[in-house]
Amino acid sequence: MKIFYFTSTGNSLHAARHFGGELVSIPQAFRARDLEFADDSIGIVFPVYFGGLPAIVERFLKEAKLDAGYLFAVLTYGGAALNSVKILEKTAAKCGVRFDYINAVEMIDNYVPMYNIEKEIAKGPGKDIEGRLNAIAEDIRALKKGHSSPSNLGFRVLGGLLRSIPSMSVQPGRDKTFIINDACSRCGVCAKVCPVGNITVDGSVKHLHRCEWCLGCINLCPENAVHLKSEKNSTRFRNADVPLQDIIDANCQVGP
Ligand SMILES: Cc1cc2nc3c(=O)[nH]c(=O)nc-3n(C[C@H](O)[C@H](O)[C@H](O)COP(=O)(O)O)c2cc1C
Ligand code: SF4
Ligand code: SF4
Repeated sequence: MKIFYFTSTGNSLHAARHFGGELVSIPQAFRARDLEFADDSIGIVFPVYFGGLPAIVERFLKEAKLDAGYLFAVLTYGGAALNSVKILEKTAAKCGVRFDYINAVEMIDNYVPMYNIEKEIAKGPGKDIEGRLNAIAEDIRALKKGHSSPSNLGFRVLGGLLRSIPSMSVQPGRDKTFIINDACSRCGVCAKVCPVGNITVDGSVKHLHRCEWCLGCINLCPENAVHLKSEKNSTRFRNADVPLQDIIDANCQVGP
């Protein structure tokens, strides 16, 4: 079994580790230009972005050839999966992919522009994240079929409406809104966690305006030097079970 994953703050990698098999980072598969895969089972694990798919996951579904007897997808989300399962089904169908099994698991919300992340982290114990992940792992071991969305009809309709709001979509130039303060030590971590190679750190931190708004650079900066005008406070999130180095290994597009 192969599991392709995309993660910014570790939730989706933590989830993928529950399901077994060989883990393959989607950004690294793109970097290696190796996009043809065959196995008895293939899975894909990624976060919900704006009630849909991260742009890099959409590209992966379009460009990769996935040949498997059993295909599954697991979405991680922070509080409202909205219409993401339907959007995944539609995107996959356009790419000639049909998932046997789709499920979603509520984890910690990492969306700094809108939420007080301290409060989001405090909600964690009430979400039974490990219980949900173990149940999904059991489904996958049993090659269970079926698509399951955590959202009711109201949330799915709301998801459709929200996606028409410009701030609820990826805008490559949105990296201009990052404020790097004097705490920056020019350590280069932000450049290494960026899944699309959008950051250079030389005399200063520079963005190349092809940002996909994963928020890895803001959440994972060791000096907490990256800020947004709109943030509720300066608390940041990384999944406690996933070391920073694992996210660097998963996403880094710079250096050897
Ligand atoms: C750009 C962006 C958009 C997001 N949109 C949603 C959303 O629509 N619904 C939701 O419940 N969580 C949303 N989230 C939260 C993430 O889906 C959630 O925290 C996820 O588990 C993060 O996974 P990761 O740690 O693997 O990156 C969003 C996060 C980002 C960065
Ligand atoms: S990760 Fe933070 S401290 Fe390091 S270079 Fe980037 S902004 Fe500066
Ligand atoms: S610049 Fe930051 S938010 Fe944009 S894609 Fe890179 S790591 Fe993600």
